[in-house]
Amino acid sequence: MAEVVILDDESAAAGLAANVILDLVRRKPATVLGLATGSTPLGIWLALADRGADLSDVRGFALDEYVGLPDGHPQSYRSVITREVVEPLGLDPNRVMVPGHLGPIETAGNDYERAIRAAGGVDLQVLGIGTDGHIGFNEPGSSFESLTRVKTLTRQTREDNARFFDSVDEVPVNCITQGLGTIRRAKHLVLLAFGEAKAKAIAAAVEGPVTASAPGSAIQLHPHVTVLVDGGAASELANVDYYRYAWANKPEWESL
Ligand code: F6R
Repeated sequence: MAEVVILDDESAAAGLAANVILDLVRRKPATVLGLATGSTPLGIWLALADRGADLSDVRGFALDEYVGLPDGHPQSYRSVITREVVEPLGLDPNRVMVPGHLGPIETAGNDYERAIRAAGGVDLQVLGIGTDGHIGFNEPGSSFESLTRVKTLTRQTREDNARFFDSVDEVPVNCITQGLGTIRRAKHLVLLAFGEAKAKAIAAAVEGPVTASAPGSAIQLHPHVTVLVDGGAASELANVDYYRYAWANKPEWESL
Protein backbone atom coordinates (compact mmCIF):
# COMPACT_ATOMS: atom_id res chain seq x y z
CA MET A 1 0.00 0.00 0.00
CA ALA A 2 1.21 3.49 -0.79
CA GLU A 3 2.34 5.60 2.13
CA VAL A 4 0.01 8.60 2.05
CA VAL A 5 1.17 11.77 3.82
CA ILE A 6 -1.29 14.63 4.16
CA LEU A 7 0.51 17.93 4.55
CA ASP A 8 -0.63 21.45 5.39
CA ASP A 9 0.26 22.86 2.01
CA GLU A 10 2.15 22.49 -1.21
CA SER A 11 5.40 23.90 0.10
CA ALA A 12 5.50 21.41 3.01
CA ALA A 13 5.03 18.56 0.52
CA ALA A 14 7.66 19.96 -1.83
CA GLY A 15 10.13 20.35 1.06
CA LEU A 16 9.56 16.74 2.13
CA ALA A 17 10.04 15.46 -1.43
CA ALA A 18 13.22 17.55 -1.76
CA ASN A 19 14.56 15.97 1.48
CA VAL A 20 13.89 12.47 0.16
CA ILE A 21 15.77 13.31 -3.06
CA LEU A 22 18.70 14.86 -1.21
CA ASP A 23 19.00 11.85 1.14
CA LEU A 24 19.17 9.63 -1.90
CA VAL A 25 21.77 11.80 -3.65
CA ARG A 26 23.92 11.81 -0.50
CA ARG A 27 23.97 8.02 -0.61
CA LYS A 28 24.27 7.83 -4.41
CA PRO A 29 25.57 11.01 -6.12
CA ALA A 30 24.79 9.57 -9.57
CA THR A 31 21.12 9.06 -8.66
CA VAL A 32 18.78 8.61 -11.63
CA LEU A 33 15.75 10.86 -11.20
CA GLY A 34 12.50 10.55 -13.13
CA LEU A 35 11.28 14.08 -13.81
CA ALA A 36 7.66 15.17 -14.13
CA THR A 37 6.80 18.54 -15.67
CA GLY A 38 3.66 20.60 -15.04
CA SER A 39 2.76 22.75 -12.05
CA THR A 40 2.82 20.08 -9.34
CA PRO A 41 6.59 19.47 -8.94
CA LEU A 42 7.63 23.13 -9.24
CA GLY A 43 8.01 23.54 -5.46
CA ILE A 44 10.39 20.56 -5.34
CA TRP A 45 12.73 22.15 -7.87
CA LEU A 46 12.60 25.46 -5.96
CA ALA A 47 13.32 23.71 -2.65
CA LEU A 48 16.22 21.76 -4.18
CA ALA A 49 17.68 24.91 -5.74
CA ASP A 50 17.41 26.68 -2.35
CA ARG A 51 19.33 23.93 -0.56
CA GLY A 52 22.22 24.46 -3.00
CA ALA A 53 23.30 20.80 -2.98
CA ASP A 54 25.75 19.54 -5.60
CA LEU A 55 23.57 17.65 -8.08
CA SER A 56 26.05 17.65 -10.95
CA ASP A 57 26.30 13.84 -11.08
CA VAL A 58 22.54 13.28 -11.05
CA ARG A 59 20.99 11.82 -14.20
CA GLY A 60 17.45 12.70 -15.26
CA PHE A 61 14.77 11.18 -17.48
CA ALA A 62 11.67 13.23 -18.21
CA LEU A 63 8.37 11.39 -18.18
CA ASP A 64 6.95 12.73 -21.39
CA GLU A 65 7.00 15.26 -24.21
CA TYR A 66 4.59 16.76 -26.69
CA VAL A 67 4.94 15.58 -30.27
CA GLY A 68 4.72 18.18 -33.03
CA LEU A 69 6.03 21.33 -31.35
CA PRO A 70 8.94 23.00 -33.16
CA ASP A 71 12.39 22.60 -31.60
CA GLY A 72 12.95 25.17 -28.87
CA HIS A 73 9.21 25.89 -28.37
CA PRO A 74 8.99 27.34 -24.84
CA GLN A 75 6.28 24.82 -23.86
CA SER A 76 8.08 21.75 -25.18
CA TYR A 77 8.95 19.66 -22.15
CA ARG A 78 12.58 19.78 -23.17
CA SER A 79 12.49 23.59 -22.82
CA VAL A 80 10.48 23.35 -19.61
CA ILE A 81 12.87 20.82 -18.04
CA THR A 82 15.88 22.95 -19.06
CA ARG A 83 14.33 26.13 -17.62
CA GLU A 84 12.75 24.73 -14.46
CA VAL A 85 15.03 21.86 -13.50
CA VAL A 86 18.39 21.63 -15.28
CA GLU A 87 19.44 25.28 -14.97
CA PRO A 88 18.22 26.13 -11.44
CA LEU A 89 19.51 22.85 -9.97
CA GLY A 90 22.84 22.90 -11.79
CA LEU A 91 22.27 19.54 -13.47
CA ASP A 92 24.51 18.52 -16.35
CA PRO A 93 22.33 18.99 -19.48
CA ASN A 94 24.07 16.02 -21.13
CA ARG A 95 22.83 13.78 -18.33
CA VAL A 96 19.15 14.78 -18.66
CA MET A 97 17.01 13.21 -21.37
CA VAL A 98 13.54 13.95 -22.66
CA PRO A 99 11.72 11.35 -24.79
CA GLY A 100 11.37 12.04 -28.50
CA HIS A 101 14.69 13.82 -28.88
CA LEU A 102 17.02 10.90 -29.47
CA GLY A 103 16.27 10.22 -33.14
CA PRO A 104 13.25 9.59 -35.38
CA ILE A 105 9.94 9.58 -33.54
CA GLU A 106 9.09 6.12 -34.95
CA THR A 107 11.85 4.52 -32.85
CA ALA A 108 11.98 7.08 -30.05
CA GLY A 109 10.10 4.89 -27.57
CA ASN A 110 12.52 1.96 -27.82
CA ASP A 111 15.51 4.32 -27.85
CA TYR A 112 14.32 5.90 -24.61
CA GLU A 113 13.74 2.56 -22.91
CA ARG A 114 17.26 1.52 -23.89
CA ALA A 115 18.72 4.76 -22.47
CA ILE A 116 16.89 4.28 -19.15
CA ARG A 117 18.14 0.69 -18.92
CA ALA A 118 21.70 1.76 -19.78
CA ALA A 119 21.58 4.28 -16.91
CA GLY A 120 20.67 1.43 -14.53
CA GLY A 121 16.97 2.35 -14.23
CA VAL A 122 15.23 5.21 -12.45
CA ASP A 123 15.91 5.39 -8.70
CA LEU A 124 13.18 7.87 -7.81
CA GLN A 125 10.34 8.89 -10.08
CA VAL A 126 8.51 12.16 -9.33
CA LEU A 127 4.90 11.99 -10.51
CA GLY A 128 1.97 14.37 -10.78
CA ILE A 129 -1.51 13.19 -11.73
CA GLY A 130 -3.99 14.55 -14.27
CA THR A 131 -7.60 15.34 -13.39
CA ASP A 132 -8.54 12.38 -15.62
CA GLY A 133 -6.22 10.11 -13.62
CA HIS A 134 -3.27 9.97 -16.02
CA ILE A 135 0.30 9.59 -14.80
CA GLY A 136 2.96 10.51 -17.30
CA PHE A 137 0.69 11.00 -20.30
CA ASN A 138 -0.83 7.54 -19.90
CA GLU A 139 -4.47 8.35 -20.40
CA PRO A 140 -7.32 6.10 -19.14
CA GLY A 141 -7.15 2.72 -20.87
CA SER A 142 -3.34 2.58 -20.98
CA SER A 143 -1.86 -0.86 -20.38
CA PHE A 144 -0.11 -1.42 -17.05
CA GLU A 145 2.68 -3.09 -19.03
CA SER A 146 3.10 -0.26 -21.55
CA LEU A 147 6.53 1.15 -22.32
CA THR A 148 7.57 4.51 -23.79
CA ARG A 149 5.51 5.20 -26.91
CA VAL A 150 3.56 7.83 -28.83
CA LYS A 151 0.03 8.40 -27.54
CA THR A 152 -2.94 10.72 -28.05
CA LEU A 153 -3.93 13.19 -25.33
CA THR A 154 -7.56 13.35 -24.18
CA ARG A 155 -9.52 16.53 -24.72
CA GLN A 156 -9.60 16.97 -20.92
CA THR A 157 -5.80 16.89 -20.65
CA ARG A 158 -5.45 19.34 -23.55
CA GLU A 159 -7.96 21.67 -21.85
CA ASP A 160 -6.10 21.35 -18.52
CA ASN A 161 -2.81 22.22 -20.24
CA ALA A 162 -4.24 25.04 -22.37
CA ARG A 163 -3.17 27.44 -19.60
CA PHE A 164 0.41 27.09 -20.87
CA PHE A 165 -0.59 27.99 -24.45
CA ASP A 166 -2.65 30.75 -26.09
CA SER A 167 -5.57 28.39 -26.71
CA VAL A 168 -6.53 24.72 -26.39
CA ASP A 169 -6.11 24.31 -30.15
CA GLU A 170 -2.39 24.99 -29.77
CA VAL A 171 -1.93 22.11 -27.31
CA PRO A 172 -0.54 19.20 -29.32
CA VAL A 173 -2.80 16.19 -29.79
CA ASN A 174 0.06 13.67 -29.64
CA CYS A 175 2.70 13.04 -27.05
CA ILE A 176 5.40 10.53 -26.25
CA THR A 177 5.32 9.16 -22.72
CA GLN A 178 7.00 6.62 -20.52
CA GLY A 179 4.52 3.77 -20.17
CA LEU A 180 2.93 2.55 -16.95
CA GLY A 181 5.30 -0.42 -17.22
CA THR A 182 8.26 1.96 -17.47
CA ILE A 183 7.07 3.96 -14.46
CA ARG A 184 6.48 0.80 -12.44
CA ARG A 185 10.13 -0.21 -12.94
CA ALA A 186 11.39 2.86 -11.08
CA LYS A 187 12.57 1.90 -7.59
CA HIS A 188 10.60 4.55 -5.68
CA LEU A 189 7.53 6.48 -6.87
CA VAL A 190 6.77 9.85 -5.28
CA LEU A 191 3.35 11.08 -6.39
CA LEU A 192 2.25 14.59 -5.46
CA ALA A 193 -1.13 16.27 -5.88
CA PHE A 194 -2.63 19.49 -4.63
CA GLY A 195 -6.12 20.98 -4.60
CA GLU A 196 -9.63 19.58 -4.81
CA ALA A 197 -9.48 19.27 -8.60
CA LYS A 198 -7.14 16.30 -8.05
CA ALA A 199 -9.18 14.66 -5.24
CA LYS A 200 -11.07 12.14 -7.40
CA ALA A 201 -7.95 11.12 -9.31
CA ILE A 202 -6.02 10.62 -6.05
CA ALA A 203 -8.82 8.57 -4.46
CA ALA A 204 -9.01 6.37 -7.57
CA ALA A 205 -5.22 5.95 -7.66
CA VAL A 206 -4.76 5.15 -3.98
CA GLU A 207 -7.98 3.41 -2.94
CA GLY A 208 -9.92 2.57 -6.09
CA PRO A 209 -9.88 -0.70 -7.97
CA VAL A 210 -6.70 -1.42 -9.93
CA THR A 211 -7.94 -0.69 -13.42
CA ALA A 212 -6.64 0.67 -16.69
CA SER A 213 -9.52 3.16 -16.49
CA ALA A 214 -7.62 4.85 -13.65
CA PRO A 215 -3.97 4.79 -14.79
CA GLY A 216 -2.82 6.17 -11.42
CA SER A 217 -4.06 2.96 -9.77
CA ALA A 218 -0.95 1.28 -11.25
CA ILE A 219 0.84 2.62 -8.16
CA GLN A 220 -0.97 -0.05 -6.12
CA LEU A 221 1.15 -2.67 -7.89
CA HIS A 222 4.40 -1.03 -6.81
CA PRO A 223 6.19 -1.95 -3.56
CA HIS A 224 7.52 1.52 -2.72
CA VAL A 225 5.20 4.49 -3.27
CA THR A 226 4.96 7.77 -1.37
CA VAL A 227 1.90 9.97 -1.98
CA LEU A 228 2.22 13.57 -0.79
CA VAL A 229 -1.05 15.52 -0.82
CA ASP A 230 -2.64 18.60 0.71
CA GLY A 231 -6.08 18.58 2.35
CA GLY A 232 -7.83 19.40 -0.93
CA ALA A 233 -6.32 16.52 -2.87
CA ALA A 234 -6.94 14.21 0.12
CA SER A 235 -10.60 15.23 0.44
CA GLU A 236 -12.05 12.16 -1.34
CA LEU A 237 -9.87 9.59 0.40
CA ALA A 238 -11.78 7.21 2.69
CA ASN A 239 -8.90 6.33 5.01
CA VAL A 240 -7.63 9.82 5.87
CA ASP A 241 -7.69 9.14 9.62
CA TYR A 242 -5.51 6.07 9.18
CA TYR A 243 -3.00 7.92 6.97
CA ARG A 244 -2.66 10.70 9.54
CA TYR A 245 -2.36 8.18 12.40
CA ALA A 246 0.26 6.13 10.53
CA TRP A 247 2.30 9.27 9.78
CA ALA A 248 2.10 10.45 13.41
CA ASN A 249 3.29 7.01 14.55
CA LYS A 250 5.95 6.40 11.91
CA PRO A 251 9.05 4.87 13.51
CA GLU A 252 11.88 7.42 13.60
CA TRP A 253 14.33 5.06 11.91
CA GLU A 254 12.03 4.49 8.94
CA SER A 255 12.60 6.75 5.95
CA LEU A 256 9.99 7.59 3.34
C1 F6R B 1 3.90 15.86 -16.75
C2 F6R B 1 3.08 14.66 -16.54
C3 F6R B 1 1.65 14.76 -16.17
C4 F6R B 1 1.39 15.80 -15.09
C5 F6R B 1 -0.11 15.92 -14.83
C6 F6R B 1 -0.41 16.96 -13.78
O1 F6R B 1 5.22 15.48 -17.10
O2 F6R B 1 3.57 13.58 -16.69
O3 F6R B 1 1.19 13.51 -15.74
O4 F6R B 1 2.07 15.44 -13.93
O5 F6R B 1 -0.75 16.27 -16.01
O6 F6R B 1 -0.07 18.22 -14.27
P1 F6R B 1 0.00 19.47 -13.30
O7 F6R B 1 1.10 19.20 -12.34
O8 F6R B 1 0.34 20.63 -14.20
O9 F6R B 1 -1.32 19.57 -12.64
